Amino acid sequence: MSLFNRHILLGVTGGIAAYKALELVRLLKKEGAQVRVVMTKAACEFIAPLSFQALSGHSVHIELLDVDAENAMGHIELARWADIFIIAPASANTLSKFSHGSADNLLSTLYLAANCPVYIAPAMNHVMWNHVATQTNIQIVQSHGIRLISPEAGEQACGEIGVGRMAEPQTICTRILADLTQQPQVLAGVNIIITAGATREPLDAVRYITNRSSGKMGYAIACAAQLAGANVTLISGITALSPPKNCRFIQTETAQAMHNAVFENINPCDIFIGAAAVADYRPIEVAQKKIKKKDDTLTLTFQKNADILADVASTKNPPFTVGFAAETHDLEHYARDKLVRKKLDMIAANWVGGERGGFESCENALDIFWQDGHKSLPMTGKETLATQLISLIAERFHLKIKPI
Ligand code: C5P
Repeated sequence: MSLFNRHILLGVTGGIAAYKALELVRLLKKEGAQVRVVMTKAACEFIAPLSFQALSGHSVHIELLDVDAENAMGHIELARWADIFIIAPASANTLSKFSHGSADNLLSTLYLAANCPVYIAPAMNHVMWNHVATQTNIQIVQSHGIRLISPEAGEQACGEIGVGRMAEPQTICTRILADLTQQPQVLAGVNIIITAGATREPLDAVRYITNRSSGKMGYAIACAAQLAGANVTLISGITALSPPKNCRFIQTETAQAMHNAVFENINPCDIFIGAAAVADYRPIEVAQKKIKKKDDTLTLTFQKNADILADVASTKNPPFTVGFAAETHDLEHYARDKLVRKKLDMIAANWVGGERGGFESCENALDIFWQDGHKSLPMTGKETLATQLISLIAERFHLKIKPI
């Protein structure tokens, strides 16, 4: 499941090889990816969108100017959602649109709006493939950073023989997996503890208070750290997510339980990332039975929880400590205040509330602060954002332990 939770946007253009894209969806899903499909109108002449819908589990995106589709997930949102964008098969026509920056259909618009790695697996007649116009377009899109999965030689749908058959779905899947696992091992052998998700503080036998947090950001950071070669321990509060593969996973519920789990596992820990939404207070008394509805008002008294992040940063030999700050206003002010007050090495701040992503959304943007620096990571899918954050953490961590 090496594509666990990766968001893959698959663009299908009009060609007989479109049928192979169905198998590609199946393979990507088998690797744990979430797949959404966008089809050109010509692609719909070859394969019914319903087939892709059934396999991907999501309705297929076709129209650019479709009010209903835009309401469900607008094209910019869809582009941001993607961690990886694959166009398979990519027709000569779509290649030409990409090379010229056209935005006259949904697929070409998404290409311009996407901020993630883009792969193309062209498929066309061998004479079309070898035409100087197509080869020039290939060079142009490669200069944009597109990763080419070259067509293969063999018998073509038209009966002719030559280079132009779309690479096999397994070849495409293997290439994407290989690129992911060949990510620079910037944290090889480094021990990382990550807290994620929301803690739950019981009020009585059936009720609790909690924070709004899906855990997606923390889980994505765990996956990114692990792909960068780190030994990851993920200490989670409550989420609806399944634990990522290949990392130590510790399930907790309350802030106190999370605090205990962190300190039971702190040796060894080189980097600590506190991405959990920890409840600041817990009810002093937890009623054993359900509190009955009686008076018009109910007063509960709360006790402050220990600050896990600040406690880790205050240990004798603290790890490189990274905190999060979710703020509704004065982002930089509060983030920098936390950085200093909690003695952190780095803090990742994001806006919450309103329409700026954050909590349950799949996208986020972060402003990262450290003592003498700052970097903004623009709005993108949480998986891509996590990879960018991990490479920044790795950079600062290595500078701290081995200054130049
Ligand atoms: O002070 P505030 O709760 O806003 O700080 C947020 C940061 O502190 C997050 O990184 C969060 O994981 C961490 N935190 C913690 N323990 C707490 C409260 C917050 O580790 N009790």
